[in-house]
Amino acid sequence: MKPGKLPQGLHHLGAVVRMKEPVEILKGLFFCERGFLNANHFVLTRPYKALIDTGYLTCLEQTEKILNSLGVKFSQVRLIVSTHTHSDHIGGNRTIQKASNCRVALHPLGRKFMERKDSRSPWWSYYGHKAEFFSADLTLHDRDMLSLGDHEFMVIHTPGHAADGICLYNPKEKLLISSDALWENDLAAMTPLVEGEDCVIKARQSLESLGRLEVGLVCPGHGPCFKNAPKALVKADRRLKSYLKDPEKMARDQIKRIFIFTLMMLNNPLRQDFVQHLKSVPWFQETVDRYFNGEYEPVKRDILEELKKRGLIAEKQNRLFSTIRP
Ligand SMILES: [Fe+2]
Repeated sequence: MKPGKLPQGLHHLGAVVRMKEPVEILKGLFFCERGFLNANHFVLTRPYKALIDTGYLTCLEQTEKILNSLGVKFSQVRLIVSTHTHSDHIGGNRTIQKASNCRVALHPLGRKFMERKDSRSPWWSYYGHKAEFFSADLTLHDRDMLSLGDHEFMVIHTPGHAADGICLYNPKEKLLISSDALWENDLAAMTPLVEGEDCVIKARQSLESLGRLEVGLVCPGHGPCFKNAPKALVKADRRLKSYLKDPEKMARDQIKRIFIFTLMMLNNPLRQDFVQHLKSVPWFQETVDRYFNGEYEPVKRDILEELKKRGLIAEKQNRLFSTIRP
């Protein structure tokens, strides 16, 4: 199947998800927009096959279909670049590595997490995400140059959201692959009890490094590509500043985001299963203890109600589901 002829209406988690067409952002390099549960993919189709980020583990079948639509088989992939080791960015790494024996390049911290089988630092066990360790053999340090086919990218370390987060900048075309460090209208979750309470300061410093680049197009880890980097940087920084003033706001935003991700991950769970899940993973209890005096019930109820009112989640026949594209 040629690009632009992606299978429409793939069924995902019981809902029909319209797949967006891959867009060629540089010669032979395609941007494939996914949703919230799966980070966007970048697929190099020539002169060899390579990927940047591989989605969430349970959606691998769709990832494969998207790659196939670009003429790429898992077994042909020579290199995976992981912008960080969060579950929605590395879900396909192990399977694709098994099929192709490809190398995986990432920030040295991410490599350390994988080598030490540390499942908390990349948030997997903290939030109860599904993910598999993989072998990482190439490290990308801040300011390293990475060749992807005919294209050169500068690696920019952008901690804050994730300690091992990197962005990739192509100076020739002024293109920034911003992963979860910069989105157009939103900010990725802050997880201070894993990343450290200075994660907000680090995230602001990361925005500062991105602000020094001349950027024509930003391709983020979630959402569509956009042009106005300065505007997005200002918005993101404003939100981070508000977190410094009001850490409870940061914690509420974190809980909202993780609730939505969890509903997608659990495939529209029964309310009681969702509640059970919250008890089985460390993050909810730790966050409520730290920021809301251990008031688990009121916090859970209020945030679920707020998300319902805003139309971000819904409840039918005692099942909770997210209305956002997974
Ligand atoms: Fe992330």
